[in-house]
Amino acid sequence: MQTLDSVEPLQTVIARWKSQGHKMGLVPTMGDLHEGHLSLVRLAREKADRLVVSVFVNPLQFGPDEDFTRYPRQLESDAALLEKAQVDLLFAPSVDAMYAKGRPAVQQVSAGEIGDILCGLSRPGHFDGVATAVNRLFAVVQPDLAAFGQKDYQQLLVIRRLVAEQGLAIDILGGSIAREADGLAMSTRNRYLDEKARAVAPRLFEELRAAAALIRSGTQEHARILQRSIENLTTAGFRPNYFELRRAVDLTVPSKKDRELVLLAAAHLGETRLIDNLLFSL
Ligand code: PAJ
Repeated sequence: MQTLDSVEPLQTVIARWKSQGHKMGLVPTMGDLHEGHLSLVRLAREKADRLVVSVFVNPLQFGPDEDFTRYPRQLESDAALLEKAQVDLLFAPSVDAMYAKGRPAVQQVSAGEIGDILCGLSRPGHFDGVATAVNRLFAVVQPDLAAFGQKDYQQLLVIRRLVAEQGLAIDILGGSIAREADGLAMSTRNRYLDEKARAVAPRLFEELRAAAALIRSGTQEHARILQRSIENLTTAGFRPNYFELRRAVDLTVPSKKDRELVLLAAAHLGETRLIDNLLFSL
C-alpha cells in the first residue's frame, strides 16, 4: 500500500490507473478506524480494481465548540489496518494540502435543504463542510464508486444528492451499520464514553428498536411513540437532541401511505453526542 499526503502525486497515480482502465473505488474517513470503516473498505474492495481510502479530519465539518482538536488521530495503526485490508492507496493530506492553500480556493459546496434538518439543526454548516470535503475528494480521486455508512444516514443522503446535483458518475454504496455485541453502533466518539456512560449507551439502539416495533404493530400514534422514546432516553440519562420518524428516501415527514421509513436519533450522553438510526418497512 502506498501512502500519499498531497494532491499532485496522488493525481499522477490516479491518472496512471485510469489510463490502465481500472475501476476506482474510494472510502472517505476521518481515521481512527474501527470495524464500521473496515466493513466499507471490504464493500468497496469487492467492486473496485484500485481502492483509495482517505484519512482526513475535516475542520470544515466541526462547529467552533466541537471536538476537532481532540478528535483521535491514529495514522500509523490506521495504515496497518488498511494495508491488511488490501487497500492500494492511503491518502492522508494535511488541511493545507487538502484545501490547496495559496492556490485557487477549493469550491465550497452546499448540502442543500437536506443538510438543514435533524443533525443540521444543532450542527449548522456541518453538512456543507462534509459536502465540500467529499466533493474535493471526488474531484482528485475521480472514483467510479465510493462507499459511505448508513450509520450517518443523513450524511449518506447528502452525498447522494451531491452526486445527483453535480452530475457525477459515481456509484454510491451504502454500507450497513456495524455494531458492538450489545447493539451500540460503532463510532470513533464511543472512545469518549466513560465506563458508566458506555454501559448506558446501547439504550439508544434499544429505544429505536422498541419504537420501530410499536410503529410496525400500528397500535399507537407515531407522535406518542416518539415522545415516549424521548422520555425513556431522558430517564436513562441521555439528553435527547431528536428522535424522529422520516421517509427513508429523503428524510421528509412520512404520510400514511409511506412504507420505507427510518427512525433517527441523536442524544448527548455526558459530553458525547451519539447518533443512530434504524431503517424499516411497513
Ligand atoms: P467517519 O466518521 O470517519 O466515517 C467514515 C465512514 O464510515 C462514513 O461513511 C461513516 O458513515 C462510516 N461509518 C462510521 N461508523 C460506522 C458504522 N458503525 N457502521 C458502518 N459505517 C460506519 O463520516 C465521516 O468520517 C466524514 O464525515 C467524511 C465522510 C469522511 C467526510 O469528512
